[in-house]
Amino acid sequence: MKFLFIAFFLLLSNSISSAIGAPCGDYGECDSFKPQLNNMESMQLGALTFINHCYGCHSLKYSRWGRISKDLDIPEEIFTNNLVFGKNVKLGDRMTGSMQPNVSETWFGIAPPDLTLVTRLHGSDWVYTYLRTFYEDSSKPYGVNNMVYPGAAMPNVLASMQGQQILSCKDVPIIASNGGVRRDELGNNITEEKCGYLKTIKGSGSMSVEEFDEAIFNLVNFMTYVGEPSRADRERMGWYVILFFIVFTAFAYLLFREYQKDYH
Ligand code: HEC
Repeated sequence: MKFLFIAFFLLLSNSISSAIGAPCGDYGECDSFKPQLNNMESMQLGALTFINHCYGCHSLKYSRWGRISKDLDIPEEIFTNNLVFGKNVKLGDRMTGSMQPNVSETWFGIAPPDLTLVTRLHGSDWVYTYLRTFYEDSSKPYGVNNMVYPGAAMPNVLASMQGQQILSCKDVPIIASNGGVRRDELGNNITEEKCGYLKTIKGSGSMSVEEFDEAIFNLVNFMTYVGEPSRADRERMGWYVILFFIVFTAFAYLLFREYQKDYH
């Protein structure tokens, strides 16, 4: 009885959380993202994608050019020639973006937000999923919509890499009330058509699905770094702090034992 009660409660809480406030909107659960903040190559590639495809609209105004070049091990000369965007920009300048907010507002109806802290605001999982879930929707001004952020005013700027992504339908097995797959008399699974699945049309973009996922991984890895540039340092230092505590505890214990001797 008790078990049933708990099971019922779990089911209920599950259906509630998926009905309201699903973390990634129409997509449901976000795809998980584990940053690799010591993977310099990944973050360098991500920075390149960001400057080429995002910086035209979005600033990273709490970050400075020079800090990125230093943290990501990119020699200053290569960095200045290939990444720094805009004339007369010095390495000590903040990355304030190249668009005037009032201009972009008339273009998109809303100024593209600064992205320095976006991975901390929504979480890297959210951003990783958001960038991969644009799909064609002719009812929208840019012909695209987004599953994570329905009605987003951002065009699908990476469409040439990803290719055409559409919502499609597929046959899925019907699950019976006992949790198993429902079958007909001959033992075949009974299926029903469900829609709302993302599908990329093969060959329509310059990258395969795996290559695109990797490019977005690198991009979001870089954006996670930008959101907290000292995180890799902090995590590395954390280990030393814990090691120190262990060593310190050992010495404190030895001292305690020394003092104990006086009482006996
Ligand atoms: C053509 C201009 C443009 C480009 C280029 C662009 N974006 Fe956007 N982006 C927008 C606009 C406009 C919004 C605001 C959407 C809204 O709120 O409806 C936005 C919103 C976002 C958001 C959601 C922010 C939030 O807090 O809601 C993220 C994340 C984002 N963009 C990431 C990117 C990345 C990463 C790139 C590069 C691959 C990029 N954008 C390129 C215009 C652009």
